Amino acid sequence: MIDNVKTTNRECLLDALANIVGQSNVLRGEQVSQRATHFWDSTPLVAKAIVRPANTAETSAVLKLCHEQSQTVVTHGGVTGLVDGNRTTSDDIILSLERQNHIESIDEKGRTMLVQAGAVLQNIQEAAADANLQFGLDLGARGSCTIGGNISTNAGGLSVLRYGMTREQVLGLEVVLADGTVLSSLNQMMKNNAGYDLKHLFIGSEGTLGIITRAVLRLRPATPHIDTALMAFASFDQVSDLLGEFSASLNGNLDAFEVIWQPFYQLNTNAQLDGTSAAPLPASYPIYAIVETRSNNAENASSDFQHALEKALNNGLIQDAVIAQSQKERANIWHIREHIDIALSHDPVFVYDISLPIADMNNYVESTIGQLEQHWPGVIVYVYGHLADGNLHVLVAPPTDSPLSEADFTQWQSISNDIVYTPLKKLGGSISAEHGIGLSKKAYLHHSRTPEEIALMKTLKNSLDSTGILNPGKII
Ligand code: LAC
Ligand code: ZN
Repeated sequence: MIDNVKTTNRECLLDALANIVGQSNVLRGEQVSQRATHFWDSTPLVAKAIVRPANTAETSAVLKLCHEQSQTVVTHGGVTGLVDGNRTTSDDIILSLERQNHIESIDEKGRTMLVQAGAVLQNIQEAAADANLQFGLDLGARGSCTIGGNISTNAGGLSVLRYGMTREQVLGLEVVLADGTVLSSLNQMMKNNAGYDLKHLFIGSEGTLGIITRAVLRLRPATPHIDTALMAFASFDQVSDLLGEFSASLNGNLDAFEVIWQPFYQLNTNAQLDGTSAAPLPASYPIYAIVETRSNNAENASSDFQHALEKALNNGLIQDAVIAQSQKERANIWHIREHIDIALSHDPVFVYDISLPIADMNNYVESTIGQLEQHWPGVIVYVYGHLADGNLHVLVAPPTDSPLSEADFTQWQSISNDIVYTPLKKLGGSISAEHGIGLSKKAYLHHSRTPEEIALMKTLKNSLDSTGILNPGKII
């Protein structure tokens, strides 16, 4: 009987939602389970329904209704996150922004772009390039992640050292609050100190404070000329010394400086690339880095780049290096770094996204690997990341003969978490540099935020979402 009442209520809510967005935009049953939970995890999606509003007005009406009925709502973009921030139960409604994916306008003089939250990052990059401008955010998942997801997680990526995190690329936002209120904060000005800058509340809040529907993005002058090199080193100190040199000598053109420890390089060069090309450098060095400069001046920039590399080779900072001579060679180099699927296919694999001072990195990596090996002889630890941002990704794959039970998985994960996270507090680092907290880092938030900070986060959450319908249980 109770089940019948529940079912009837659910059907009433879904019918009411269908009245707002149209029957074909309320997906149920198999239309939900046919979709994967993540791009890297094919577990079928669960939810009461997926609702796909066409615009801000429909999004607002959906939220107003869900608020009235205390219906939980989890927003989905490209589902490329790595912290279970988009996890749902069968009681949740998924609000998908997939139909709100348009680039609405570009102001070439003001260097801004107005986009809908479901727009795919790569489409934004291409639209900026078509206008002879550039968007300052880039990351491996560019082909599927959406700008709403990038903003709601304050994504980092490959160009942070030059342009900053997503926060720095956003001038204005339109957000639908939990009760359906539309907060239009679509500022286009570089300067606007008129009271609190409310957009920052929502940037990085992982869909817990409001749903971003549109954004004004800041664009940069185009830097179409790209130089890329892969370099091999004898030690971490050489890599960090070179970062210091290049930051000073490359005339502000330095766009990316990524570090890769040997196991990750070996993995991705073994599984080689497009199947035809050989690894650009042998896999025998302990550590590698990819450097990229971008500018609008092909001649000077390329010779500066070449000279900087030659100098580093001559003075023994670099052991070996290869400069990409074509777009294909550049893609092959980046593929070694961006391809994380093979590492993620280990089972189990625990994924970390930490930050810490560069000066402490080498000791930290050595001691962490040492402790993990002590605990799990034969453990594979992949380390790579955005060196210039003090941001490393650590992937821990302990050996096992058979799939772990859920209880064992949880226990192993917490052992690994303790080893990886504990030293960070003392070093002033963070347990989440650029991926957010979601569900998977929630228990460790206190490593990186004080009790007072967490209390204020809860106050903000309660005041903006009093019934707790937005992305329940995430972050705090
Ligand atoms: C990367 C993702 C995991 O940098 O942040 O590969
Ligand atoms: Zn990253």
